[in-house]
Amino acid sequence: MDKLTFLNQIDTMTGPSIRRFYMPGHKGRGLSEIVLPKMDITEVEGADNLHHPQGVIAALQERMVADYKTRASWPLVGGSTLGIQAALLALAQEGDKILVPTNAHRSVYGGLALARAEGIYLPPAMDRSWGLATHVSLEILDQALARHPEAVGMVLTNPTYYGTTSDVAAIAERLHQKGKWLLVDEAHGAHLAYCRTLPEDALSAGADMVVQSAHKTLAAYTQTGMLHLGTDRVDPERVQRILGILETSSPSYPLMLSIEGALGQAQISGGRMMEDIAAAWDRAVLTFDAEDNIRLYTPDNGYPYDKSKWLFTVVDGSGHALEKDLREKYGIWLEFATAHTLLAYTGMGTTREDLGALLEAIGAMNRKVSQDPQDHSARPSSEASGLWAVDHPLVVPLWQAMLGQTEWVPLEQGAHRISGDFITPYPPGIPVVLPGERMTPEMVGKIQKALDQGEEMMGIGLKDRVAVLCEKETD
Ligand SMILES: Cc1ncc(COP(=O)(O)O)c(C=O)c1O
Repeated sequence: MDKLTFLNQIDTMTGPSIRRFYMPGHKGRGLSEIVLPKMDITEVEGADNLHHPQGVIAALQERMVADYKTRASWPLVGGSTLGIQAALLALAQEGDKILVPTNAHRSVYGGLALARAEGIYLPPAMDRSWGLATHVSLEILDQALARHPEAVGMVLTNPTYYGTTSDVAAIAERLHQKGKWLLVDEAHGAHLAYCRTLPEDALSAGADMVVQSAHKTLAAYTQTGMLHLGTDRVDPERVQRILGILETSSPSYPLMLSIEGALGQAQISGGRMMEDIAAAWDRAVLTFDAEDNIRLYTPDNGYPYDKSKWLFTVVDGSGHALEKDLREKYGIWLEFATAHTLLAYTGMGTTREDLGALLEAIGAMNRKVSQDPQDHSARPSSEASGLWAVDHPLVVPLWQAMLGQTEWVPLEQGAHRISGDFITPYPPGIPVVLPGERMTPEMVGKIQKALDQGEEMMGIGLKDRVAVLCEKETD
């Protein structure tokens, strides 16, 4: 086999004529000042130490503190995944109960498991037409607080992958009134603090801790992130100690340098570029009408929308074919496609020409359809099939189930067994089964039905098998 198959493959996928609407936010442009292999160094004299920053890395932290107006900030070389896990370990004690809207990323569940904390799962508000989780309202929060006054804090995803937002300031205020903390997973929102016309960032809204990916919307390299302390809830030294446990002792200098480069770009021109993207979204949305098969998604929940996410809805369910055509005929690569959605994810490297090419291609592929786009009876929906559980009663603690020995069994034999993994339909990316939950025959039947209807489901193996805990794990 050709030894460079991997390299050749990536090289051909990233040619100059390709327009990238997927992460990372640099879109294959910029960062030319980070020279490889020249700058791939280690903690020699003058290069500082991520785990004991006193020099150039401390200066980068100061810049993060100033840009995001924080009490303390840490650059990360393990993405938001590392930041979320570190934040949960810093904030939670073993056995603590934490409010978790179920559209949380799996790193939140990983963080709960590491901290041996217990999730109190809340269903987020949904856009029922397209089956997307949109926000957490104060009403949802108040109901959860009334049922679980012992909860110590909450993890909120804001903005979502699809760009929808919650009222973070109101949520932070409510939690603080009751002496509880707010951790915001702002993996998709590191750009917000730089753009006045986009939704407010979580640190300005009063969150206690905030985690961001620097590679999703900013121009830093993949795997970079930022962890911020917004209030004095946690001792910064505790955070530093936890990062020392979780994060590599050989952090990549090119990655860390790319965080500095991305912040510099955001400061100088990136904020304005993102505002241009939002203005282009405002113009583009007017060009679609109710009969179009493909339309730019506009949330109807009344909250500000992060217009850096160009989410298109597809009435006739041809999303996968459209994504393939965009890629093969127009050289436009999207972040994500399902039968009924296409996500073009912009970032600090997106240009006006990219957006023009995207809209032109969508225009060429669009057609009129008679179906009412609000009528979702024709669309497979995990909600319609009754899959979403309001509650996830765990018979084995999450941490024990996530780390337990599992075996694969056919789905129908999963009934009455304890799940060893998440089972998650996309969209909306909300797990319907958590590790540690006993699967009921009813739930297994619904999952089978959803699979038969063509729903995309993570956590289901080849030939519709599911991972369950080995019997000895559950004795
Ligand atoms: C909402 C959310 N949070 C956290 C993460 C993890 O981010 P990272 O890939 O930077 O570790 C993701 C990744 O896609 C995400 O979508």
